[in-house]
Amino acid sequence: MKLIPLRNLVLVGTLLLLSYMILVSEVLIEGTFDTLVTGGAGFVGHHVLMKMPNAVGIDSFNNYYDVSLKYKRAKISGRVIEGNVCDIVLMRRIIHKYNIKKVIHLAAQAGVRYSLKNPQAYVKSNVECFVQLLEVLKNLNIPLIYASSSSVYGKNTKVPFSETDPVIQPASLYAATKRENELLAHVYYNLYKQQSIGLRFFTVYGPMGRPDMAYFSFTKNIMEGKPINVFNYGEVSRDFTYIDDIVNGIIGCTKIDFTYEIMNLGRGQPHTVGEFIRFIEKATGKKAIKKMMPMAKGDVLITYANVSKATTLVGYRPQVTLEDGINKFVKWYKNN
Ligand SMILES: NC(=O)c1ccc[n+]([C@@H]2O[C@H](COP(=O)([O-])OP(=O)(O)OC[C@H]3O[C@@H](n4cnc5c(N)ncnc54)[C@H](O)[C@@H]3O)[C@@H](O)[C@H]2O)c1
Repeated sequence: MKLIPLRNLVLVGTLLLLSYMILVSEVLIEGTFDTLVTGGAGFVGHHVLMKMPNAVGIDSFNNYYDVSLKYKRAKISGRVIEGNVCDIVLMRRIIHKYNIKKVIHLAAQAGVRYSLKNPQAYVKSNVECFVQLLEVLKNLNIPLIYASSSSVYGKNTKVPFSETDPVIQPASLYAATKRENELLAHVYYNLYKQQSIGLRFFTVYGPMGRPDMAYFSFTKNIMEGKPINVFNYGEVSRDFTYIDDIVNGIIGCTKIDFTYEIMNLGRGQPHTVGEFIRFIEKATGKKAIKKMMPMAKGDVLITYANVSKATTLVGYRPQVTLEDGINKFVKWYKNN
């Protein structure tokens, strides 16, 4: 067998690396930015980009839900690089090119129900890519603001949920991966003094939102005269939080110093799904055809945020009532 000389291998390796770097530089956007928003074509990421002209986004445009909605959002902001957070070379290039000073990490495989069907997607995006991101950031002195979730409170019954409550009873794989993020962030703080703040979002909704979430699919079905599945016979409560309030909370975190923190971002005022449906009926002017169902696997009975820590740390004061927020969403839905 003929051996390939080492210098030829080095040459091929260098050429491959160079062509990759040329490809990568082609996907980058020109501009001056100091903040990177991962999941920038996602629902929350898009709204953050719209409020932060100094931020650039990255998104893998995965097909968990209608990709055309993600491209539509990216077109509106004009600031989303197509790429994967797991791609360490690309992430390093982005951080270096723009001299990124803060990362808002919102990219994830979201959704509780889908985690029963495709657990691997959650392990990949939420755990593996999170470790890759921490590896990229460690020792760079770039604070990380990342999305956790109210789902980490799992089967806890004490309400409202506070950051100091034990979180050892997740009800879904999604919830477990979000708790894993908080634990990993602690590891990197312990080892490398990586600053981070994990935001436990409570059922975020609003215009340009996620078609997989109940407010969106209920509105669509009610408008089209189709039935909606109402789990646990409507006896489920959620602390619905309007997107603008969440974005204000996130932006608030970019203005403070932190070491290792975890913080609730919710409305602090839960509503039953029954009430929530009545607001959609009122806004659409149509009656829902309700298909009453037992509790869905992985779901929890109630989410309810104590937001006093966010109020103290970043002056967070949610403004939008569920009724007003649903009206804004339905108005957007009717026009799109
Ligand atoms: N919307 C909510 O109610 C809610 C509640 C709690 C927590 N969260 C969390 O908030 C964050 C944002 O949620 P959202 O509602 O905007 O979801 P979303 O699905 O609309 O946005 C997430 C985006 O991340 C992208 N993405 C996924 N994996 C990626 C990867 N490896 N690299 C690059 N991009 C990737 C997806 O393509 C998607 O556009 C997520 O971390 C989610 O788990 C959301």
